[in-house]
Amino acid sequence: MSAALHPDTVAVHSGRADLTELGVHALPIDLSTTNPLPDIERGGESYEAMATGGRPPADGSMVYARLWNPTVARFEDALAEMEHAEAAVAFSSGMAAMTAVILAQTASTGLRHVVGVRPLYGGTDHLLGSGLLGVETTYCHPSGVRSAMRPDTGLVVVETPANPTLELVDIAEIVAAAGSVPVVVDNTFATPVLQNPLDHGAAMSLHSATKYLGGHGDVIAGVVACSEETAEALRRVRAVTGGLLHPLGAYLLHRGLTTLPVRMRQQQENARQVVQWLIDQPEVDEVFFPGLDGDPRGILERQMRGTGAMIAMRMGGGYAAASAVASSVSLFTHAVSLGGVDSLIQHPAALTHRPVPADARPDADVLRLSIGLENAGDLISDLAQAFASLGARNSSSAVAVDAELAGSWSI
Ligand SMILES: Cc1ncc(COP(=O)(O)O)c(C=O)c1O
Repeated sequence: MSAALHPDTVAVHSGRADLTELGVHALPIDLSTTNPLPDIERGGESYEAMATGGRPPADGSMVYARLWNPTVARFEDALAEMEHAEAAVAFSSGMAAMTAVILAQTASTGLRHVVGVRPLYGGTDHLLGSGLLGVETTYCHPSGVRSAMRPDTGLVVVETPANPTLELVDIAEIVAAAGSVPVVVDNTFATPVLQNPLDHGAAMSLHSATKYLGGHGDVIAGVVACSEETAEALRRVRAVTGGLLHPLGAYLLHRGLTTLPVRMRQQQENARQVVQWLIDQPEVDEVFFPGLDGDPRGILERQMRGTGAMIAMRMGGGYAAASAVASSVSLFTHAVSLGGVDSLIQHPAALTHRPVPADARPDADVLRLSIGLENAGDLISDLAQAFASLGARNSSSAVAVDAELAGSWSI
């Protein structure tokens, strides 16, 4: 599609180039697990092409759905275009996508050291440190990347805005510090509507597509936007390890992309209104939201086209207050995940970041809010009634929960 088109238009029309030729208007869902082979020779050649990460040859066959599926490929094409990338590769979850990235960049190159820039989503942090994938990880903060690099470093993993405290990381700065080592940016919170990591030098932009891309809380998926060369390495891992995205999920995600820009704009406007209210509330000690600190390093201005719709807040009453608020909301759902049309609230230290070692885990008095498409006034009223229900503050509970969580995770 033409590079001159506005991103809103790209979101609606991308990944649909073959529909007219097929004689259809809506996205077709191909559920075939296997595909007819023209003859043994071309079948074998097709298999070989895709098992090594390529695309199905024009005169060949898609052979088997673990190698290729056209419904998934259309979603990948659309996401690649929105991310200003040559290609994208979709997976059965964000964690499957991260696993494939790690395997493709470390196991296959023999460079088994990874630099993990904290804070990271708890599952990613844990995957990198667990040893499950045979990598050794040095964790650091953004300023420590250069000194964390080693001759055997094969990958740098960073997330911005970071989960859950919305810190912004300068992608170009991390890329410069990483030198020739590829940087993967978890772009889940920003989405391609607000941020395109490849434009700032990153090698890969990874999404938990479960979140904003799907947007309706009904698909678990992951996707990586990257160069065609990197996509080949990722497809090879996917073909062998089988972390496939089901075509029904790909259909829902592709449909979700069409409304992504509109959803992002409205959700972040709602979030802005909630933040404005939160900063005046005596029950809240600190609000975390991109730009709220005045963007001193200009990262928001330089790298993003908006703030996004995620908020974190530090409750003045500590863990006890956080726990009470999470249990007292009624319009917000007390649940993990984020990025859907309905608002969610959750406690990162106890849930999404539970596997993170205690010294790097979010504080026990912090709650994370994912703001949806409800009326902002209704969301504020719900938080107001939850704050009103707060009882006596007991900061000793925060100490108790930290002690309880430490060492509670082992693999
Ligand atoms: C920022 C971020 N990255 C990755 C993941 C993992 O994605 P998934 O749950 O789709 O495997 C999550 C999940 O919450 C996330 O929040």
